[in-house]
Amino acid sequence: MKKGLKWLVCLVSVCSLLGLAGAYMVEKQPPPKSAHDQMEGTQHGHIEAPEEAEKRVNPIPFEAESVSRGEAHFSKNCVPCHGA
Ligand code: HEC
Repeated sequence: MKKGLKWLVCLVSVCSLLGLAGAYMVEKQPPPKSAHDQMEGTQHGHIEAPEEAEKRVNPIPFEAESVSRGEAHFSKNCVPCHGA
């Protein structure tokens, strides 16, 4: 066998072994979790608010009318993804 061909055969077998190992590892992984489960217990998605922002007070008074407007807004804009 020519030297070049030997190298080619070697390269092809190493590549296919790596491919098989990769496929095996992917198969062994647990099913993907929801975005919410993945964030639990981690800092992922957590944004630290600046101190002065922490002190801000909600300008919307908590009363029946504001709550019902918020409910209508949530039903219209958020429920499709976040659920009722
Ligand atoms: C198109 C789909 C979609 C709509 C519509 C939507 N959201 Fe979301 N929202 C998401 C997804 C997806 C995430 C998670 C993002 C991530 O994991 O980084 C999220 C994350 C959030 C979070 C952060 C939750 C957390 O635990 O950090 C809040 C708060 C939120 N949404 C509020 C709202 C509100 C309020 C509305 C309506 C005004 C709304 N969303 C509409 C898809 C949506």
